[in-house]
Amino acid sequence: MKRQWWHDKVAYQIYPKSFMDGNGDGIGDIQGIRSKLDYLKELGIDILWLSPIYQSPFIDQGYDISDYYRIAEEFGTMEEFDLLLEETKKRGMYLVMDLVVNHCSDRHEWFQKALADPYGPYGDYFYFRKGKDGNPPSNYRSYFGGSTWEPVPGTDLYYLHFFAKEQPDLNWENPKVRQEIYKMINWWLDKGVAGFRIDAIINIKKDVNFPSYEPDGADGLVHCTKMVENVEGVDEFLEEMKRETFQKHQAFTVGEVFNMKEGALEEFIGDEGHFSTMFDFSAHQIGQGKHGWYDARPVEFKEGRDTLFASQKETEGIGFKSNIIENHDEPRGASRYLPDYARNETGKKLLASTMLLLRGLPFLYQGQEIGMTNWECPDVSQYDDISTKDQYQEAIQAGCTPEQAMKACRENSRDNARTPMQWSAEEHAGFTKGTPWLTVNPNYTEINVEEQETREDSVLAFYRKLIALRKSDALREIFTYGETIPAYEDQEKVFAYFRSLNGGAKILVAGNYGTEAVTLPLPEGKGTLLLSNTEREAQLQKQLEKEGQITLQGLEGAVLLLEQG
Ligand code: GLC
Ligand code: CA
Repeated sequence: MKRQWWHDKVAYQIYPKSFMDGNGDGIGDIQGIRSKLDYLKELGIDILWLSPIYQSPFIDQGYDISDYYRIAEEFGTMEEFDLLLEETKKRGMYLVMDLVVNHCSDRHEWFQKALADPYGPYGDYFYFRKGKDGNPPSNYRSYFGGSTWEPVPGTDLYYLHFFAKEQPDLNWENPKVRQEIYKMINWWLDKGVAGFRIDAIINIKKDVNFPSYEPDGADGLVHCTKMVENVEGVDEFLEEMKRETFQKHQAFTVGEVFNMKEGALEEFIGDEGHFSTMFDFSAHQIGQGKHGWYDARPVEFKEGRDTLFASQKETEGIGFKSNIIENHDEPRGASRYLPDYARNETGKKLLASTMLLLRGLPFLYQGQEIGMTNWECPDVSQYDDISTKDQYQEAIQAGCTPEQAMKACRENSRDNARTPMQWSAEEHAGFTKGTPWLTVNPNYTEINVEEQETREDSVLAFYRKLIALRKSDALREIFTYGETIPAYEDQEKVFAYFRSLNGGAKILVAGNYGTEAVTLPLPEGKGTLLLSNTEREAQLQKQLEKEGQITLQGLEGAVLLLEQG
């Protein structure tokens, strides 16, 4: 594999609306982000990914862009952005933007012109089709519920939207659209951004005949991804985009790729792949409901472990995936992956150590580093997220009681991760001096940055140590390029693996997710403790020396450098 500048980096996702409010209007902004750069640097972050900051009506929180060349007023000005970019670079960090090009906003000039004249040149920027026998052109259900086809008033036409009706899909078959997109990407790259996180990208290739499929739900519709799975040819678009843009700038790209065809990994993230890397969502997808959040099922520990190992193995000779515990679309990892008895600082540190030392780029999501948790939202009316509102209705329609529907939302809502960042125990968690746009999680008085800064044993302090370990001169190479070898799989509640470089130096990462102690004999009988999530480091080291094994208490984790015999 060719070495790339980004291989050994650690990334952090900022959700701008909820990160830090600089001007007191209750909405996070660029000025706020700038004020926290030193905090991020100290945490050990190299790459910052900003969720969309472009001009937008915010129907889907900025994933509906009305002007790709402007900064949303809510977030600041282009001057402020330039300053942020400069300040980021000064600190040796890289700025990565969100690239949302499957769709734009219905307020975008292109769509406004298209609506005014669907048969004119801009009509072909989107997918306008005639209905069939008084019905929409096909029976697809959108990601946010309801048909993907929205009637155009005063005509017999519909337009296609895979997400909200305010997010019309762009017609990638039209070369003019592709050129517009490439021009825009290059404009940002010329400005000096390091690359892009690429949104919902698998959806850009459509079967332009828009065939209907067998319904998969009581609404008579079928999820639009059915068509995506059945169409060929996304590769040509992705290759062209790369050639025309990223490649020329050696940009870093991370794809949000769902529904990839089997065996296509190399085409996506191999040396000559479409992207630098893509997110590993494998663990997040297990247990997902067939029809929605309400029919999700609990995930067995072993299933999660097997899934992650399989993904590591699949990726090894090919490239690098990007590993996440959570993001702005997922619930908080501490609430999702930790059993009740582990929802404490020890459990959160354990989760961090076993996840961040896997092979692949760690992507942290804001607040993860202090162990922020899901939001016990009291009432559905308090949710802001479009998807949560839809999922609540889906649940009700499927016969759930309001309480059951709320439970599904509390567990899965995207707003779990979107509540404001908890900086301090001050009013509104120190996020804003105004009224926050979304409720602050009431647990901010206990879980916040300021408090954790004062403690050596905080989750934040642990994340700092963990990242520093991963990036340390002595171990950077093995943590970056070493293979992952599953270990102690016969232990039911242990998530453990070796990282090994060319069969040489070896590291053991071991976490006991159970409540009972487990003893793990070391292969060569010798090792040095590098890090643990408990206060028992001295004891563990002593035991290692005396017995050539370690006993991990419930929720204890350890990272060891193994000596070769
Ligand atoms: C991606 C984004 C999500 C957004 C969707 C539509 O999945 O992560 O937040 O709603 O694309 O752009
Ligand atoms: Ca603000």
